[in-house]
Amino acid sequence: MSVMSEIRGFAVPRSAVAIWWLGQNGFIFKTSAGTLLSTDLYLTDNCACALPDLGIDVRRQVPVYIAPEELDVDCYVCTHNHADHTDPATIRGLRNKNTMQFIGPHPSCDVYREEGVESGRIVPAWPQCELEFRDIHIRGTFALPTDDTDLNHMGYVFTFGKGPRLYMTGDTDASELLASAGKYSPDLAITCINGGFNNLSHFEAAELMGKIKPKAAIPCHYDMFKDNAVDPKQFRASLKLRAPGVGYQELEHAKPWVFAL
Ligand SMILES: [Fe+2]
Repeated sequence: MSVMSEIRGFAVPRSAVAIWWLGQNGFIFKTSAGTLLSTDLYLTDNCACALPDLGIDVRRQVPVYIAPEELDVDCYVCTHNHADHTDPATIRGLRNKNTMQFIGPHPSCDVYREEGVESGRIVPAWPQCELEFRDIHIRGTFALPTDDTDLNHMGYVFTFGKGPRLYMTGDTDASELLASAGKYSPDLAITCINGGFNNLSHFEAAELMGKIKPKAAIPCHYDMFKDNAVDPKQFRASLKLRAPGVGYQELEHAKPWVFAL
């Protein structure tokens, strides 16, 4: 069975969320009511194709578990407009599917539009915005840009029905303002840990988790490109030092992980 049909058929218990990691900051979340929300899906090798002269190795190392044409989610969310997050080639393959809404900061919305998504399905988001989609409450959070090619980074807090609340940092440079997501008391957090190109390092991510205090922290953005990788076990060690009460939860690509309240 394909990963997409497994996700479609997967039953999520009440007060829980099921999470599939597809690499980098790409995740699919499923609520107990069956709503599927994705973040930053990078389902092509577009970075290597579009940026052949970048000078660093950005060939994808994680298999494509779901082809863009096969992707079938209800709500497609992006954190910022870098090609490994708002991937035009993924969106091109997906645009004619049943995806109801395409959510993201304005530069991501521009890409949705350029790739043929109708304006009625595009919903802009920004730090502190609040959106409702079926049984999911979406709140934008602060993120600090990592370079001047995109100055509109953001993160999200998602509340999945009567289930858990999750904070996603998105790509962000270190800033004391990131801890402001703690006021929403997330049960879970997903954080970048790679440290490269001004993203949070495993140590900075652990310090942030120590302030926000989720029950478990999931590392991401260390797996896709050879020249932007780090061993996630370093994040586990940093959590022990800087966030001793926060559990370390490493996800396996394309395998469901269920968290219940
Ligand atoms: Fe990134």
